[in-house]
Amino acid sequence: MLARTQDLLEAAMRSQPRYGVLACNVIELGHAEAIVQGAAAERAPIILQISQNAVRYRIGALEPLVAACRELAIASSTPVALHLDHATTYDLCERAAAAGMSSIMFDASAASHARNIEITATEIRWAHDLGLAIEGELGIVGGKDGAITSLAGMTDPQAAMDYVTATGVDALAVAVGTEHGMTEQVVVLDFDRISALREAVAVPLVLHGSSGVPDDSLVEAVQRGIVKVNLATQLNVAFTGAIRRFLDDNAQMVDPRTYGAVGRAAIEQVIRAKCRLLGASGKG
Ligand code: G3H
Ligand code: ZN
Repeated sequence: MLARTQDLLEAAMRSQPRYGVLACNVIELGHAEAIVQGAAAERAPIILQISQNAVRYRIGALEPLVAACRELAIASSTPVALHLDHATTYDLCERAAAAGMSSIMFDASAASHARNIEITATEIRWAHDLGLAIEGELGIVGGKDGAITSLAGMTDPQAAMDYVTATGVDALAVAVGTEHGMTEQVVVLDFDRISALREAVAVPLVLHGSSGVPDDSLVEAVQRGIVKVNLATQLNVAFTGAIRRFLDDNAQMVDPRTYGAVGRAAIEQVIRAKCRLLGASGKG
């Protein structure tokens, strides 16, 4: 069933013990099918997210992929929400709203602190009038568009409190040691910072770059206060790796339905394992 992002995040926050909600990036229809199927098999809530970079890859077309995700969500036996990820333009946000997405990450993290507050607050006034939730980011999660993860870029709890109050964001992406696009799970998270951020703000905390986080650290991150767990690269490692191995063993294979199904099954396995790890299985 089609769900709203904020409802999924607030249910996870209220639950005792808390659990994490996976938010997985969709590039192709096969990604979305595998993610929804994996979540349904676990009876877990899930968020399908499409990033501005994925829209660029789709030659600027957001709507066809959202429409497909929406149909998958409606047909699913478990809750599936639709989210626009890492948006930097108002035009794309308006198109996401019109296409039926219920939340947007408006990424003004590259701007100065004052400007981040100003543009995020403006975006939120527009979004709330339409009933949409906005995820803001404070701090710098590296690995994207040349950004570098550094101690100076980590999210300060006091600044986070001020930022949430000043902007009215519905969820907050925090920099606590992760970096986007990592293919190995070697990140060292700043757990005390996560705890302090949870104390400082009442909105759900979002972890970007979760692919680089070891499984046991992801569990602790959720126990400390992370609610939305953004995962992309690990899905692509599984998808592409499985297809590469399959094609290496079947050099004459040309039918995308055959190797596509192999890639899809690999994503589904990752989704199922992560839902169990985050405690989300059975919550949808
Ligand atoms: O917004 C999406 C993510 O933060 C995913 O990051 O590709 O490192 O898992 P990742
Ligand atoms: Zn991200």
